[in-house]
Amino acid sequence: MRVGIVGATGIVGRELLELLAAGTSIRISELRLSASPRSAGKKLMTAWGELTIRSLDEEFFCGLDLCFFCTGKTISARWVPAAVARGVRCLDNSSAFRMQEGVPVIVPEVNGNLLSADLRLVANPNCCVAQLTPVLHPVKVHFGLEEVTVSTYQAVSGAGQDAMEQMARELAQHPRSVGAGQLLFNLIPYIGRRNNAGHSEEEEKIVRETRKILELPTLPMAVTAVRVPVMRGHALAVTFKTRKEAVPEEIGQLLSSAPNLRVVDAPQPIVAQHTNAVYVGRIRSNSAFAHRSFSLWIVADNLRTGAAHNALKTAEAWCRA
Ligand SMILES: NC(=O)c1ccc[n+]([C@@H]2O[C@H](COP(=O)([O-])OP(=O)(O)OC[C@H]3O[C@@H](n4cnc5c(N)ncnc54)[C@H](OP(=O)(O)O)[C@@H]3O)[C@@H](O)[C@H]2O)c1
Repeated sequence: MRVGIVGATGIVGRELLELLAAGTSIRISELRLSASPRSAGKKLMTAWGELTIRSLDEEFFCGLDLCFFCTGKTISARWVPAAVARGVRCLDNSSAFRMQEGVPVIVPEVNGNLLSADLRLVANPNCCVAQLTPVLHPVKVHFGLEEVTVSTYQAVSGAGQDAMEQMARELAQHPRSVGAGQLLFNLIPYIGRRNNAGHSEEEEKIVRETRKILELPTLPMAVTAVRVPVMRGHALAVTFKTRKEAVPEEIGQLLSSAPNLRVVDAPQPIVAQHTNAVYVGRIRSNSAFAHRSFSLWIVADNLRTGAAHNALKTAEAWCRA
């Protein structure tokens, strides 16, 4: 199979290259890499030999079977349609097409059944959604879901290579650099633009995509998304109400048997770094607050579970479909 990666020099693109090199069921006969004009012509050593980063043009997609887009939404919005028009199967990591009708947003263990050979475009979900939905899905199936409240604690790498470099610079300059917008020793209580109602772009994505993947279009959700000074690994504090009676032990048992979930006492982002699992812990009842209300804590590696690993699992399942 001839495979392309657009955005191969970014942190998601590089993570995907590492995962592909570590082993995949996709039989890759040719790998093509592309990035911005800044990187065009640079060489990258890969498991497929030294490859030259190509600039992005129509020619790049010629003869490709599958292309991963690891770019921001403006570049994806511009180039995914060009690749689809050439018959290339496209797996897009950006938010550009996630809410478009007919484009499935896939977390394989939740809705991998939607993948079919005739699809040409599949979206990878928002990083928090990729770790939230595998936990909420079994709860929905077994106990029903009435409402969900989420607070996120999102690592700096979720904002891309530039943000990681910013925090590294702040670390080198400390204690001189102190100011609003600083990543180090600070929390930023919104991610992306805020709408007139005060919700941030990230919060809106988490609500919309979770509802789409769980096929619960009116699920009441309240989300607060926060950037924290952690390099890698997102954490989510989740409170939800079930429709049927449950006790925390039953929820724990249910989640222990769900694919790719690891139920542990109190997982920390550092444990999830460079792993492909979703860690769940602190499962408890809020009986003094509301009937059938539970809280739990989820951590996962935003670059693996939240991006590259989910994309690779989806592509592998798609190629088998
Ligand atoms: N980081 C995460 O945790 C995460 C999780 C889930 C989804 N995502 C999504 O995944 C996508 C990539 O994120 P990232 O964190 O990897 O970002 P990043 O580190 O900033 O990388 C962006 C990539 O896009 C390339 N690019 C920029 N302008 C381009 C242009 N004009 N033409 C072609 N390529 C261009 C960059 O190339 P240069 O190196 O040449 O500039 C780089 O390879 C985004 O849509 C993001 O929202 C990220």
